[in-house]
Amino acid sequence: MTPWVRIEELGAYVDREVQLRGWLYHSRSKGKIVFLLVRDGSGICQCVVVRGEVPDETFEVADRLGQESSLIVEGIVHADPRAPGGYELWVRRLQVLQAAEGYPITPKPHGIDFLLDHRHLWLRSRRPFATLRIRHEIIRAIRDFLDGRGFLCLDAPILTPAACEGTTTLFEVQYFDDVAYLSQSGQLYVEAGALAFGRVYCFGPTFRAERSKTRRHLTEFWMVEPEVAFTTLEELMELAEDLVCYIVERVLERRRTELAILERDPTPLERVAKPFPRMTYDEAVQWLLDHGLPMTPGDDFGSPQETALSQAFDRPLIVHRYPAAVKAFYMEPDPERPDRVLCMDVLAPEGVGEIIGGSMRVWNYDLLLRRLRDHNLPEAAFRWYLDLRRYGSVPHGGFGLGLERTVAWICGLEHVREAIPFPRTIYRLYP
Ligand code: 4AD
Ligand code: MG
Repeated sequence: MTPWVRIEELGAYVDREVQLRGWLYHSRSKGKIVFLLVRDGSGICQCVVVRGEVPDETFEVADRLGQESSLIVEGIVHADPRAPGGYELWVRRLQVLQAAEGYPITPKPHGIDFLLDHRHLWLRSRRPFATLRIRHEIIRAIRDFLDGRGFLCLDAPILTPAACEGTTTLFEVQYFDDVAYLSQSGQLYVEAGALAFGRVYCFGPTFRAERSKTRRHLTEFWMVEPEVAFTTLEELMELAEDLVCYIVERVLERRRTELAILERDPTPLERVAKPFPRMTYDEAVQWLLDHGLPMTPGDDFGSPQETALSQAFDRPLIVHRYPAAVKAFYMEPDPERPDRVLCMDVLAPEGVGEIIGGSMRVWNYDLLLRRLRDHNLPEAAFRWYLDLRRYGSVPHGGFGLGLERTVAWICGLEHVREAIPFPRTIYRLYP
């Protein structure tokens, strides 16, 4: 029996006969030779069909086969440094499962809207292949890192009774005779988890009705949210630093080929190391003003400010202690300056901007109740959250790392829409 082999494993089968199962990525004919570029999801292999060495009928089929036809091919593995991936298959047998015709994504360039309309097919192309394999590696790295540090994965619900990150970006859904909201963040629930298990994380989809049409915003995105009991802001910054370094190292170690497909220069990633520079919000404002950028002290950073700050260093930058007025209700005030909160954002370099947002949480019952009222949030929906401050409250905190922004940074993508298999934005719900 000829063994069925994945293309990425071909190196172990040189000079042996193997079977590949895949799809025709591209083909070209040269007289009595047809080169079939076959992809199987793990890589691409050039399969060489020579007239006279296969039955005439097989040669004719190979010569006329349309792009993305599904096939099973058998032949001898031949090492050839000029071949894509380093190996060729000298074909002996070819079986076509479905002969495709008129595949819409051709080797010529297509516009982004066309590609996004055909995302279900575009997934098969080289860029999505590389990007989504890197995304997968990042997900694995995140889980390995947190699991290795004793964190418990605690899944947060997606249907929720209340807002976590402001009421203006809530998606409302009918919930029997009531309304529910799609989760903007699992944070409130991992806080409960941290008081039960010490350190936990959730990792799932989150939803925000963002009307902004920027390269950084999706309406559905994935976030990993570690939450730690008995911690400090300084410890959270170190945790974020270690996590980001671990992710980058893992991609450099295992996904170099994919970075090369994306033409992503790895040098800036190789410079990512501890410690990351740190600035208070006030220092960041001063830096912006010193560099001639428009900035009103007290305001949140917008896109131009974030971009400028994230281009200032060769590694991620941590900005901490923002004004309470621009941040969420749950953030703990800075005891040294109560109009500031104990929060931190990590801005990725190269102009990318915020990939992590986190903070210490208000852990005093009375203060939290006051904050909920100040923010006009419905107390009844937060009763359980207030309970956490009544029974064994401790200083605790955590952060959220946006998966797509992290993937976009590491892959060098212009826009987060390419960093997720099926992007959702204000203008896109299809396919
Ligand atoms: O800064 P954010 O809003 O923080 C929270 O949601 C906290 N509750 C997290 C926590 O402390 N557990 O969002 C965190 C990260 C951002 O830094 C960004 O990377 C990503 O989530 N993010 C988005 N990514 C894509 N599209 C959007 N619309 C995003 N909004 C936030
Ligand atoms: Mg934020």
